Amino acid sequence: MRIIVPLQGVVQGRGGVFWGSVIPCGLFYLLQLYIRQRRPNSSEDGEGEAGQAAPPSAGGDSPYYIGWREYYQDPYHATENPDGVIQLGLAENTLSLDLLQDWLKNHPEASLWNEGEHLKLMDVAPYQYSHGMPALKSVLSNFLENLVERSMPFNADNIVLTAGATAALEILAFCLGEAGDAFLVPSPYYPGFDRDIKWRSGIQLVPVYCPSSKGFMITRTALEKAYNQTQRRGITVRAILITTPGNPVGNILDAETISSVLNFAKAKGIHVISDEIYAASVFRGKFVSASQVLAAGDYDSGFVHIVYGLSKDFGIPGFRVGLLYTKNEKILAAAQNFTRFCTVSSHTQRLLVYLLDDKDFVGKFLEENRRRLYNRYDSVLKGLQIAEMNCAESSGGLYCWVDLRHLLASASQEAESNLWKKLLYEVKLNLTPGSACHYPEAGWFRLCFANVDEQTLNVALKRLHVFTEGMRK
Ligand SMILES: *[C@@H]1O[C@H](CO)[C@@H](O)[C@H](O)[C@H]1NC(C)=O
Ligand SMILES: *[C@@H]1O[C@H](CO)[C@@H](O)[C@H](O)[C@H]1NC(C)=O
Repeated sequence: MRIIVPLQGVVQGRGGVFWGSVIPCGLFYLLQLYIRQRRPNSSEDGEGEAGQAAPPSAGGDSPYYIGWREYYQDPYHATENPDGVIQLGLAENTLSLDLLQDWLKNHPEASLWNEGEHLKLMDVAPYQYSHGMPALKSVLSNFLENLVERSMPFNADNIVLTAGATAALEILAFCLGEAGDAFLVPSPYYPGFDRDIKWRSGIQLVPVYCPSSKGFMITRTALEKAYNQTQRRGITVRAILITTPGNPVGNILDAETISSVLNFAKAKGIHVISDEIYAASVFRGKFVSASQVLAAGDYDSGFVHIVYGLSKDFGIPGFRVGLLYTKNEKILAAAQNFTRFCTVSSHTQRLLVYLLDDKDFVGKFLEENRRRLYNRYDSVLKGLQIAEMNCAESSGGLYCWVDLRHLLASASQEAESNLWKKLLYEVKLNLTPGSACHYPEAGWFRLCFANVDEQTLNVALKRLHVFTEGMRK
């Protein structure tokens, strides 16, 4: 106001109040623009994207979304549209839905109103705690303990239920920083983070380059470099966001790597978010949770936050069930408040209490699901080999990270983009290119294999083979 009022004196007449407001706003905008342009840019270091935050608008024009749109406009169908686009860009798991379907058929009491005894309207119709029913938190804490082979306890009171893991991540973004602050994210990373974390919170994501030559593993040096570069640009780093098993690579972080991330965060006084949404989709090797490393070391337990959800391991993203597990009392209280905007329907919660309480079924379901995922992974590997392609070593997840560097005209993002376009518009396969995952090494693509049926997958692999043959001519 102090700026506006004197300007009213300068700008005379009836427009005084109007111009008195517009002029200072305009000047402020120009000043911001000037400051922004003067900011040192990390790409001067010749390190591509590492340490540089992507623009918040990246979401809509990312090849990740363009590929989806192409698929929806021209979806493949074996008989009705055999030349359509095959969707290999969606990490969804439909491999074991038949098992869930059978369970539901055998347990009508879990979902049917008229079976009287169990599901009563009066139990689910009224308002509930927005952060989750105590009964569901209780079975979920037990479930989380099973994920780490009962090596440590999970306290139900530290669970905050959210409508999908997406909401849990966004809540953490709101809790841990202000708009303009940054999270470090090992890259390649899940393209959806740009949407889920940045859109409303204004938090920036800074990729931390994990080279293929080091098995896509995060190193302390890379973390430190990205941290230094970000701070130097006047941006405050608030947290590191890791994912294990990783997406898009499918590698699991071992205890040593997690502990090096935790040590780094401890030294810098920042938080760690561990997205473990694929924890039960590990088909090779052993999953380690950041909470295990946290419990085993000399750490303040309040700076590590676990995100989980049932969308991937159970193949039920439509149910919208995610959770945040944190020992930080302040974040716990704030997150509980935030769930007012992302509560899971009590009808869904009630069903899941029954389902997850059937531990015998859950154990068998997850085991069979892992077996089916591994079989898929294995047949993709074989199909890729026929097409003279390889993918990175993987231990879990619903995808593999395919190495197509040998098909690029040059080792550049532009060549990668051209190959991606060829695959999408000519071969009619929607794969996600590394650029969408903020990966500076050109030529890597994510291929999702658990959302299509076997016949469709075979058609996709066949198309890749034909494509390689054509490239050779
Ligand atoms: C980051 O900055 C710290 C403190 O200035 C310095 O000691 C360290 O060597 C830097 N690390 C890298 C990788 O640039
Ligand atoms: C949560 O909401 C309650 C009630 O509105 C409020 O008193 C409390 O300060 C909030 N807590 C946090 C941590 O935001």
